[in-house]
Amino acid sequence: MTFRELAIQRISVRGYRPDPVPDKILQEILDTAHMAPSAANRQPWHVVVIRDELRRRAVYSAYPRDWLLTAPVLLVVCVEPSAAWVRSEDQWNAAEGDGAIFMTHLILAAAEHGLGTCWIAAFSPRRLREVLQLPSHIVPLAITPLGYPADSGRPKQRKPLDAIVHREQW
Ligand SMILES: Cc1cc2nc3c(=O)[nH]c(=O)nc-3n(C[C@H](O)[C@H](O)[C@H](O)COP(=O)(O)O)c2cc1C
Repeated sequence: MTFRELAIQRISVRGYRPDPVPDKILQEILDTAHMAPSAANRQPWHVVVIRDELRRRAVYSAYPRDWLLTAPVLLVVCVEPSAAWVRSEDQWNAAEGDGAIFMTHLILAAAEHGLGTCWIAAFSPRRLREVLQLPSHIVPLAITPLGYPADSGRPKQRKPLDAIVHREQW
């Protein structure tokens, strides 16, 4: 599959089959995500892997959508701003950008294996911190379910390319 085919094929999946995700595939997806670039190569990311039913229910309490529980695995991508590169002129911290690149690699790597994901940001960070007992210097960035799709997703809807591409000047 070409990168273009992979990018077109990947969609947000909001319903999963109960089939387990083999450890070897999960490991490969995590390792591929870890190949992502990061500012000054600081790699300020962490990922919490959750398979246990009770733990999945605890994460559900931070994002109570029934389809979330259909997935056999939940991944929570977190960042550590104190470990990230900071631009000196304006103190801009690269952690969230780095975490988003990690997450992008992760969802595309999953799609390469025929696995579905859905980038979730609309969770309660307070509740998620509590149930995962995250240390105070760790910021939860995104949750994604991981599993074999039961849902064929929604057709991709994108703005016309001309509406976002500015040639030579804005
Ligand atoms: C930063 C970010 C946050 C998102 N948060 C949610 C979310 O909380 N819940 C959800 O169902 N989908 C969420 N999505 C998925 C988007 O709705 C989805 O990517 C978009 O509609 C495009 O559809 P596609 O992923 O199928 O191409 C999020 C996506 C991104 C990139």
